[in-house]
Amino acid sequence: MKKILTLIEEELIPAFEKAGVDASYAKVTVSNRPDLCEFQCNGAMVAAKKYKKAPIMIAKDVVAALQGDAMFAMAEAVNPGFINLKLSGEFLAGFLNDMQADENLSVEKTAKPRKIILDYGGANVAKPLHVGHLRSAIIGESIKRMGRFMGHEVIGDVHLGDWGLQMGLIITELRRRQPELVYFQEGYTGEYPQEAPFTIGDLEEIYPAASKKSKEDEAYRGEALEATKQLQQGNPGYRALWQHIMRVSIADLKKNYSRLNVEFDLWKGESDAQPYIPEMVQRMKDEGFAHEDQGALVVDVKEETDTKEIPPCIILKSDGASLYATTDLATIVERMKLYQPDEIFYLTDKRQEMHFIQVFRTARKTGLVKEDTKLSFLGFGTMNGKDGKPFKTRDGGVMRLENLIADIEEEMYRKIMDNHEIDPQEARETAKIVGLSAIKYGDLSNQASKDYVFDIDRFTSFEGNTGPYILYTIVRIKSILNKYQAAGGSTENGVMLAAANESEKALCLELGRFNGVMENAFEETAPHKICSYIYDLANEFNRFYHETKILSEENEAQKASWIALLRLTRRVLETCIDVLGFEAPERM
Ligand code: ARG
Repeated sequence: MKKILTLIEEELIPAFEKAGVDASYAKVTVSNRPDLCEFQCNGAMVAAKKYKKAPIMIAKDVVAALQGDAMFAMAEAVNPGFINLKLSGEFLAGFLNDMQADENLSVEKTAKPRKIILDYGGANVAKPLHVGHLRSAIIGESIKRMGRFMGHEVIGDVHLGDWGLQMGLIITELRRRQPELVYFQEGYTGEYPQEAPFTIGDLEEIYPAASKKSKEDEAYRGEALEATKQLQQGNPGYRALWQHIMRVSIADLKKNYSRLNVEFDLWKGESDAQPYIPEMVQRMKDEGFAHEDQGALVVDVKEETDTKEIPPCIILKSDGASLYATTDLATIVERMKLYQPDEIFYLTDKRQEMHFIQVFRTARKTGLVKEDTKLSFLGFGTMNGKDGKPFKTRDGGVMRLENLIADIEEEMYRKIMDNHEIDPQEARETAKIVGLSAIKYGDLSNQASKDYVFDIDRFTSFEGNTGPYILYTIVRIKSILNKYQAAGGSTENGVMLAAANESEKALCLELGRFNGVMENAFEETAPHKICSYIYDLANEFNRFYHETKILSEENEAQKASWIALLRLTRRVLETCIDVLGFEAPERM
């Protein structure tokens, strides 16, 4: 269904035409003076020049043509030529009644559904997930859900880092510790026992140990590089170990991501792209796109309009090894072959922006994608600690995601226990649900490209612009609705009547914005716009709630109308938090 702004504009068009002014001037915005009006149109002022008429005259003519229009409670021409508008309570109630009857809450699904591959998560196999991966997972999950809500086919791919030096490091360390393992024996043919020779706990210790040694010990590093190369060339024992590492780590990653309510459709990774590399590189050479530069194979991607230096994209190093860019390009080849997407959307730390500029340009130039395949990149900022530096543990180490989640849950638990008497067991469960909202909302409420400060104390607060505050509002609504139903109130939705007072009108107007907000947030891939919307909505709801005695209302039609309004508010809030990737508990 149409947006309120569109409906108002359509209503203004005949009035503009009657005033002798072209329909294109009938543009309406939400008022920036809510004390004076709800919506405003500045079209008369824009048109004045062309029609050589005083703006206020045009505004007055338009307003005269709107007299008696049932859509408006007020249409006023104000000097120097503004048209100030307030909707009638009946029109607004009608809009909300249509909205409650619509399963998509009046959001119009896209007329042109697109197939979008969303590359997010980006975890590295065998390395622990750290807070840097958190943002990609949280923002990506929300973009995926928004896209689906708008009717697109979005395929989430975790795109694992599963082919790099970390594998060689682990193999080297294992080889030093357990040279007797079957995988290291000469003539190993590829059969391997089902049981991995390590657990995830072992891996979590082995990788950092190996990584540390390789930094201190040149020979060790050489060995690890050699092991990586042999793995990539197909050494059967190393391949078997690699599969063990993959299985053990992926199981652990799945557990971690599901704890975050993050779910991928594809568990592919850098290794899947490798088979496509030789042919791709050959073609780039044959067709003259790639040339040698100081021994390396590169593709020039400079463009005349560039305002900064864009270095060539390196396809192969001088020793013939492929790089991050090579893998990303080959992944594009694979994605085009297997899925034919209309768009591939990448989400990483913004420090990778140059990499993606080079990859996208190379992909276009060498024809890896179709002309109308969109390649998009959203780079996010850093999550900092209160000291303004990248988030660390208390003793200065890299913060692991699990620990971060545990810290939040602990703080949430404490706050819930402080708040009221509750069974500790239930408080633990609730702390998990609410804690996730604290993390996700704390992240998503900032514009993705900006750095932000991860402030546990603020994020877990029940007051202010936080996830727990939003959940608290939903729980409050649920509790009123439960009481209403427990007292025999109907489960059927009643008819919403014209708003009875100012705070109800404000709540209705806020609800009426929903379809526009959702559409715009997806277009701009801006989950923070949904956050700021639900914060406003929750505030308007709470103001209404404090000023209105809902359950003791004696007029049944009025009571039913308010209950319907509550149900609609709850649905909108729940839809929004679902799109943001978290949910509300029953009580808190
Ligand atoms: N594994 C990478 C990292 O941890 C992120 C991968 C992002 N996706 C991509 N197609 N390059 O930085």
